[in-house]
Amino acid sequence: MYLISSRQMLKKALREGYAVPAFNVHNLETVQVVAETAARLASPVILAGTPATFSYAGTDYLVSICQEAARRHNLPLALHLDHHEELEDISHKVTAGVRSVMIDGSHLPFEENIRKVIEVVRFCLRYDVSVEAELGRLGGQEDDLNVSNTDSFFTDPLAAKAFVARTGIDSLAVAIGSAHGLYHGEPHLDFERLAAIREQVDIPLVLHGASGIPEAMVQQAIALGVCKVNVATDLKIAFADAVKSYFIQHPDANDPRKYIVPGKQAMQAVVEEKIQICGSAGKL
Ligand code: 13P
Repeated sequence: MYLISSRQMLKKALREGYAVPAFNVHNLETVQVVAETAARLASPVILAGTPATFSYAGTDYLVSICQEAARRHNLPLALHLDHHEELEDISHKVTAGVRSVMIDGSHLPFEENIRKVIEVVRFCLRYDVSVEAELGRLGGQEDDLNVSNTDSFFTDPLAAKAFVARTGIDSLAVAIGSAHGLYHGEPHLDFERLAAIREQVDIPLVLHGASGIPEAMVQQAIALGVCKVNVATDLKIAFADAVKSYFIQHPDANDPRKYIVPGKQAMQAVVEEKIQICGSAGKL
């Protein structure tokens, strides 16, 4: 079973008013949990990997595990390159079987970001690979990507219109107040800005940094055109907390087939909850 692009998934979500959750995966167990839960709930899902994850797991290993998950569950699965910055790296992973890409040029000046994205869009068109890009810049930490509050800035709606028209991307990641990693205090999303972006741009919008954002806020963002909701930290915390408490209760435990199980169960509950928040159950 091959891995699909996220183009049709996100277009359908936009037409029907829900979002596809994108879960960052790191290893066999995260892929198993996300794929099994998605299949059980008949939900489209995206499996996302940062450059650090692909380096950790090995591109061919990760692609093979995701392909097997798609085959085993007869599930149209997209494996997505999260926050990738170099065409050479992207082309290597597309050759390995990936069909969904984010080119992150959000740290670059506007024209350079556009140039970089166009280069990737041209390449990806040849392989029918979907492309997400980011305008504006999220704060917070995502693996090796660490952006301070002073370096983060929100997406400008008119710039977004020009960016989408000139690059031909499939989806746009917007900076409206969400941040990668943990929030210190209550997150605030700029819904007016999101509505203004939606007025200028008719492609699916992407909300990064969705861990820790209250359900009602995520749903409001979806109502305003967000079609992909990215979740990493909530899964990591659920897994780590459950495994830590297992070791507290079983200090002599040493069998990974046992101590990983509560971690997987805790991630499963998070995946179910996010699918429910996104309204994607039954949308396969
Ligand atoms: P969180 O870790 O805040 O959920 O962000 C995930 C993300 O946006 C991946 O790109």
